[in-house]
Amino acid sequence: MLRLAVLGSGSGSNCQSIFNAIKEGRLDAEVVLVLSDNPDAYILERARLNGVPAEVMDCGGYKNKFPLEVQAAVAQKLKELKVDMVCLAGFMRLVKEPLLSAFPRRILNIHPALLPSFPGVEAWRQALEAGATQAGCTVHYVDAGMDTGEIIMQAYVPVLPDDTPESLHARIQVQEHILYPAAILSALSRL
Ligand code: GRF
Repeated sequence: MLRLAVLGSGSGSNCQSIFNAIKEGRLDAEVVLVLSDNPDAYILERARLNGVPAEVMDCGGYKNKFPLEVQAAVAQKLKELKVDMVCLAGFMRLVKEPLLSAFPRRILNIHPALLPSFPGVEAWRQALEAGATQAGCTVHYVDAGMDTGEIIMQAYVPVLPDDTPESLHARIQVQEHILYPAAILSALSRL
């Protein structure tokens, strides 16, 4: 059985969609660890509720930095657990070396926009403010850039005339929860 790790900083609804896909037989894999940089993140609670081991990584009080030694420790831990694929799900730090090269083409991210448009934070708000008529979400391989890696799959979402950033994000998230498990399956099949 293929082994996944999920890294997230927030609510973890995408992590939940992975748990659900596994339970429903749409994704033949197992989540062996959930890691969060935020001790208060609900993703940790979701892991516990789903019987998945969960741990907090201590990023030393830095708000956005992912310290090198923490990345090295995470890489080592994931190697020990024989993780096949690392899924970023709302993880708010940039993955770099040495974690990147420990898992080449084995780290995925989900982003709430049609990349390459609108990388970075609050992409749904960026799309709305730019007057886009189509929004969406993207699953891509992670490289050293911010939301720049090779695209695996995308889903389109219409922007409606009365959309607020919140309503658009909610509509995008519905698609994210379908897209991410499907894209993980696709990436696993290419290993
Ligand atoms: C999602 O919109 C995802 O695309 C972005 O961060 C958000 C995480 O949401 N990277 P959740 O924690 O999975 O609910």
